Order: sequence, then structure tokens, then C-alpha cells
Amino acid sequence: MTELERLPIPLLTWYHDNARTLPWRSDPTPYHVLVSELMLQQTRVAAVLDYYARFLAALPTVRDLAACPEEELMKLWQGLGYYSRARNLQRAARVIMDRHGGVFPSDYESIRALPGVGDYTAGAISSIAFGLPVPAVDGNVLRVVSRLTADRRDVTLAETKRTVTEALKAVIPLDAPGTFNQALMDLGATVCLPNGAPLCDRCPARYFCAAHREGMEEELPVKAPKRPRRVEERTVWLIFYENRVALRQRPAKGLLSGLWEYPNDLSPAECPVAGETDLAATGKHIFTHIEWHMTAYTVAPTCPDLPDGWVWADRAALAEKYALPSAFRCFAHIVLENI
Ligand code: ADE
Repeated sequence: MTELERLPIPLLTWYHDNARTLPWRSDPTPYHVLVSELMLQQTRVAAVLDYYARFLAALPTVRDLAACPEEELMKLWQGLGYYSRARNLQRAARVIMDRHGGVFPSDYESIRALPGVGDYTAGAISSIAFGLPVPAVDGNVLRVVSRLTADRRDVTLAETKRTVTEALKAVIPLDAPGTFNQALMDLGATVCLPNGAPLCDRCPARYFCAAHREGMEEELPVKAPKRPRRVEERTVWLIFYENRVALRQRPAKGLLSGLWEYPNDLSPAECPVAGETDLAATGKHIFTHIEWHMTAYTVAPTCPDLPDGWVWADRAALAEKYALPSAFRCFAHIVLENI
């Protein structure tokens, strides 16, 4: 028997005793699984938990999500990052309402065709919500499988992911595909850890794991190095007038599209409004492909006129109305001292 063929029974036994208690597992309706899986793309479970509860309290059904105003949706997603996921989630809800008569589609191809749903997410929804025997292969699962089989191929290649998916398809238990997929996820998240230190003495696969046998677990998975991020120097203008702060909306396309922000420019730059400026703080934020190194100035403008499309936000509007990206959280204390 291959390592992968030996995996399901000990893995499912391990999961029975060690599954993480997660809110989307107690009532895995298709909608709950869709919301949780989009939130979990690129994002750790711990960061998602509060957002998930708040999101479903505000938008308990597909119909509610389809009808949700854009600003409310962005506010619910504020701080979670990768904001196109929220827009895709709503587009998926609208597809379900308009093309599937409000009934969540139950076949793989229709699920995969929903906006924001790639191979991994389609596998997760199909298996967890509908019991279809489809693997869900993300970075965690690739790490587990590459170690289990001592596979030295680059896991960032599409070809590696494709063949790992095929290999898992051949062993996924037909009576418990969602449980199997989530067991693999939990094994990757809690035992078969990345960055060197897997907890092999707690692993249900330790007796037949090829990497463990060969002492290779810290060398696997093999990953091509990422391209370095581009660094942008930015000057951020914290413009205050009578207990309000100036905001502008980002363009409809590109990084953080449609979110609100403190006006900022690539440095060096002149303050866009006339007034007294004062160096206030520096901050750094890391995105997937870009790093912002920010220098913030407070600005006391000579008059309250703002360029077209900019707005004045008071404390309540900042808290409830405008969705700001986390990149600016490092300046929140300064803003709250001034409004
Ligand atoms: N990461 C992505 N999907 C997950 C799930 N269903 N359970 C735990 N972690 C996950």
C-alpha cells in the first residue's frame, strides 16, 4: 500500500479525537461553508472567527447577502483584507439568487463556476456541504502530502497541485469526503506545521510517513522562492478640522479598491490642502506584493474646503460608515486624539 492509501483510516480516527471546534462545522449549510471558505482564503482561522459570527448575524441567508448594500458589506469585511473576496461572495450570492432560483447549486461544476470559487474552495464546499468526493488542496494539504510521500517537487507549480489532487481523489473516502478534507486541513494546521517544526510524535501518519522515515520533514515541502515585494514610500495626510478627519475613496480598480483612506501620496509630496503640517508618526504595512512604508503628517487646514469626492468623517462615521483598510490602523490613535 502507498502512504496515501494508508492515510484515511488513521487520519479519520485522529480527527475524531482532535478536530478543532469551529463555528462553520456545527451547521455546515452550503451558505455557511461558502462564507467560511471565502473568509479562510489566505487568512488564518483565528483571524476569521469574529468576522464569521458578525457576518452571519448581519446576513443570515444568501438572499440577505445578495441584497446587502456595498458600504455595509465592506464595513463587515473591514480589516480582514483581500476585499475582492467580499465582492465575489456577494456576486456568488446574486448568481445563486438569479441563476439557481435561490437554491445553492449542488453539483461540482456549478459550484466551481461561482465567483471567487477556485479549485480549492469548490472542493471544500462540494465535500463539506454536499458530501461529494472532491479533494480540497491548499498549501497546508500540499505540505502534508509532500511530506507523507517525500515528494520533492516544487509545490508552487500547478502541475504538482494537479497530480496531488488526482492522487487524493483516488483515496478520498466516499462516505466521509468532507471529514477527510477537514482532517487534512487540521493535521496541516496543528501537527504537520510549516517552517521547520512539525509535531511528528502527535501525527497519525508517523509510522508510514516517507519524510519522517527519511528525516526529510524539515526539508519539505520544496517551494520556489517568492519574488521580493516592491517597497513604496508613502506620505499620509491626517487632515483635521473641527473634530473631523478627511477621507477619500480609493479607485474602483486595483489594490484596496473602493475602500476609504486618509489621503496619501507617493513620497516626496506636497500636502494637497493648504495649512500647517506636522510630522506625526511612521508605520509599515505588508501586502502580498507591495510594502507600504508610511510617514504620516497631521494637517491643520486653513479652510474646510476639500478636493472633489473627499469627505469629512466624524468619530461615528469613521466607526460605522466608512470601511478603511488595516494599513492605516497604525495611525488610529492619532486620529482618535483629534476627532
Ligand atoms: N481552512 C480552510 N478551510 C478550512 C476549514 N473548513 N476548516 C479549517 N480550516 C480551513
